[in-house]
Amino acid sequence: METKVLPFCEESISLAAEILKNGGLVGMPTETVYGLAANALDEKAVCDIFAAKGRPQDNPLIVHISKIEMLPALVREIPETAKRLAEAFWAGPLTMIFPKSDVIPDRTSGGLDTVAVRMPASAAARALIDACGFPLAAPSANLSGSPSPTTAQHVFADMNGRIPLIIDDGECSCGLESTVICFKENRIHILRPGGITAEMLSQYGEVEIDKAVTAQPESGERVLSPGMKYKHYSPKANVIIVDAHGEAFAEYCTKHTSGKTLAFGAGVKEEGIFRDCGKTGEQQAHRLFALLREADELGADTVFVEIPDETGIGLAVYNRLLRAAGFEIVKA
Ligand code: TXA
Ligand code: MG
Repeated sequence: METKVLPFCEESISLAAEILKNGGLVGMPTETVYGLAANALDEKAVCDIFAAKGRPQDNPLIVHISKIEMLPALVREIPETAKRLAEAFWAGPLTMIFPKSDVIPDRTSGGLDTVAVRMPASAAARALIDACGFPLAAPSANLSGSPSPTTAQHVFADMNGRIPLIIDDGECSCGLESTVICFKENRIHILRPGGITAEMLSQYGEVEIDKAVTAQPESGERVLSPGMKYKHYSPKANVIIVDAHGEAFAEYCTKHTSGKTLAFGAGVKEEGIFRDCGKTGEQQAHRLFALLREADELGADTVFVEIPDETGIGLAVYNRLLRAAGFEIVKA
């Protein structure tokens, strides 16, 4: 199959909607990462997503909507807190988990009785959902296990020959996947941190962070969000988090260079092995996945990354890095 990459415009959206209406797959830009979209209500199309990504069948998909009116048909119940959060943070990088209605195929929800829903802020994503008239299931458009794609070129690298079309809307503004939450009694329970931070959510209720966000699940342990149990976001290189800053970070990396080594530091001068992963959490979120992919292109064996600050969106950066590093942290 030939994979076309077309810029976001009226014609490319019509073509994409045509493909999706016929049960096909399309690479879809969003403000977080690129998604691999199919009709969320079409069991067969959803199966093809799993096949194209090589994704474990029990890992449920997020269902994307373009307007709030699409929500009631997909779920059995909308908690009061969810209504307030939708008002505050949709359209945007927040995914909420609801009891699912019968229109959601079991394949979409990975066999769970719940469904994850999000309304993306990206104009391209929303134009595509509007043109289809049905919600789109979309996981990140990478091969399962590799870093999520933040450009159309990243999607092409992983999906060339597997899907007919990728809509190119440039770099994703956020760069990390959406925050995923569920509701426990009245508490907001964070399953995956993202662009809508714990601090932002705490204005709307008591927030708790699932322990799988920063801890490695025991083997065989049941996790609330199936995505959390897989090794994830990993380049081929061995990623190691270095718990040190500034001079101490630079010294550690220089001393422990072996084979082809890269070192991503916060605000470091780009020379030799060093790459700047950004000073702020927002910059780090925006750059992380692209840097991990670049490490593969350069054939790096080892990638040292300066430990991020865990506040704000930094928690999401840290969560992705922990998985990319297989939880390996060294203290310098
Ligand atoms: O930003 C995003 O969320 C991107 C873009 C494309 O929208 N999508 C994305 O999808 O990151 P994916 O499939 O890579 O991650 C979905 C996460 C997984 O960790 C999955 O386990 C969790 O959401 N999830 C989905 N449905 C769930 C459910 N019913 N209960 C618990 N976790 C769920
Ligand atoms: Mg993913």
